[in-house]
Amino acid sequence: MPPVLKHLFHFLDVQDPMQRYMPRFHVYCCMGKKVIGLLGSPLSDGNTAKLLEWALKGAEDAGCMVEKIEVASLDFQGCMEMMFCRDHETCIMDDDMQQIYPKFRELDGLIIATPVMTMGIPGKLKSLIDRFQVFFMAKYMRNKSLIPVERKAERKGLFIGISGMKIPEVFIGAKFTVEAFFDILDCQYFGELLINDMDTIRDITKRADLLEAAYQKGYALGKLLTG
Ligand SMILES: Cc1cc2nc3c(=O)[nH]c(=O)nc-3n(C[C@H](O)[C@H](O)[C@H](O)COP(=O)(O)O)c2cc1C
Repeated sequence: MPPVLKHLFHFLDVQDPMQRYMPRFHVYCCMGKKVIGLLGSPLSDGNTAKLLEWALKGAEDAGCMVEKIEVASLDFQGCMEMMFCRDHETCIMDDDMQQIYPKFRELDGLIIATPVMTMGIPGKLKSLIDRFQVFFMAKYMRNKSLIPVERKAERKGLFIGISGMKIPEVFIGAKFTVEAFFDILDCQYFGELLINDMDTIRDITKRADLLEAAYQKGYALGKLLTG
């Protein structure tokens, strides 16, 4: 059976009510390099989530350990500019971000999957990114990145974006933010999968070509990491 069909069946199988009881960090595989998939959509079973699922399957098939983090399920506040991170390697705010920072120091690959909202990214995803001022301060104010210099060359980021509209500029805002985030994290921009016109497409599962494209992007990212 071709891998893409195998994963389609796997994907359909997981549509059960037990999914809601799964922990908010989903670890699918336990070997190889680490790839985190960050879901910016508030819908854990929406079109963005499905594309991310396929991209993570690709990375997993390439030999990576993959983990999905749903921003919507995390409990944290936006940056309050208390500036603790100007002199410390963490944030003074004691919330779910304290579990997130170590994961982002350790990862080898990051996949950000998000819908466009108001020509940018969803507010909660933006708030999470703002909390990475911890990494920004270390890298640019103290000149002491939280990512060891020998790991910078290998860390890669993949951007999966979808939008309702079909206009050329629709991803510009989101892409600026994602590029800045990758830079702060010392992740090289590996590639992107940008799908517009979702208002017409509506259900991504009817577009096997797009699911396959997500799988292939994730696989290529994973292969690059595992060599
Ligand atoms: C609050 C909100 C704002 C949106 N803003 C835009 C927008 O500015 N441009 C656009 O093309 N689509 C916009 N959309 C449409 C989403 O990008 C689109 O429906 C996407 O497929 C949603 O993905 P999801 O179902 O995986 O969350 C918006 C949707 C919402 C809910």
